[in-house]
Amino acid sequence: MRKGILSLTAAAAVLALGLTACGGNSGPTSSTSSASSSASSSQKAGKIGVILPDSKSSARWETADRKYLEEAFKAAGVAYDIQNAQNDKTAFQTIADQMITNGATVLMIVNLDSGTGKTVIDKAKSQGVATIDYDRLTLGGGAAYYVSFDNTKVGTLQGEGLVKCLTDKKASKPIIAELNGSPTDNNATLFKAGYDGVLKPKYDSGDFVKGPDQSVPDWDNTQAGTIFEQMLTSAPKIAGVLAANDGLGNAAITVLKKNNLNGKVPVTGQDATVQGLQNILVGDQCMTVYKAVKKEADAAAKLAVALAKGEKPTASGSVKDPQSGQDVPSELLDPQAIYLDNVKDVVADGYVTKQELCTGDFTAKCTEAGIQ
Ligand code: BGC
Repeated sequence: MRKGILSLTAAAAVLALGLTACGGNSGPTSSTSSASSSASSSQKAGKIGVILPDSKSSARWETADRKYLEEAFKAAGVAYDIQNAQNDKTAFQTIADQMITNGATVLMIVNLDSGTGKTVIDKAKSQGVATIDYDRLTLGGGAAYYVSFDNTKVGTLQGEGLVKCLTDKKASKPIIAELNGSPTDNNATLFKAGYDGVLKPKYDSGDFVKGPDQSVPDWDNTQAGTIFEQMLTSAPKIAGVLAANDGLGNAAITVLKKNNLNGKVPVTGQDATVQGLQNILVGDQCMTVYKAVKKEADAAAKLAVALAKGEKPTASGSVKDPQSGQDVPSELLDPQAIYLDNVKDVVADGYVTKQELCTGDFTAKCTEAGIQ
């Protein structure tokens, strides 16, 4: 019964979101550049098309990925077109078709799910367009390259982080809630494999108690709030929350606040967003995982630029696609755990600025945290 109500509520939330997205948004955002003067010197490079997934599941896509990719393409003097599908699978495919029609010779995608990702990759390949899976592997997709972070390690850092925060709080047999990422995102599967690898032995030994464990469709932050509210109703003694990214973490924190439990129940995250870091500064979030997106964007842009020039770049490693069994040439970068004491590292790296992080009430907290 409860399940029925939950899925109805979830469906309503999806509908409401969809409507807001259509009504309040001017549609997919894009930024383009035709090859400038510097490009003419770079032996007739082709055009690079990039499709980002959305702008709500994480701030990173618009604030970090777009910016760093753009910088890298500009520096290389290649023509590019970066668009955001705003979580619309039909738009995703239309954008890909348009990019190919408009002369893209390289297509870099962050898929919304493996099925539609594969359709786009198949189409690109049939037109002789080179393909790169950016951040998310398209299962069975057969992209020529994959650039991401070690996503199992991201999950391991989250699991270890939750253990550390609960140990610091001297929690005894804490009930753990798991708020997982989108079931259609292969990364969410890898994150979960990472953190369950740490948490399961704790459940098995009886140190921790396994509580509610649910995935959040499309990483939708609004639905995450509804789901966590249900979790807390069914298990009011939840003492630790493994949230798969900062957006989901913030949704849980909002519910915890309403119940005067924020700061008492450690919550994890990922992406080192301004909101996540601010939640850490005030003690509502215990940790996040910083992924230096500049490095990811630079690695992907390097491959894309080489492909656009007709070269056949080699990647430093490979990842086995669990669906096709094929090895996909890959670049995987290293994630870093962030706690209150090293929030300053994220600022020092230039990923977020002191100006955006240390506003209003956070100013004093920033000073305490040694943020220059
Ligand atoms: C990315 C995360 C992001 C999430 C939601 C994942 O595939 O790796 O960085 O938070 O998608 O957008």
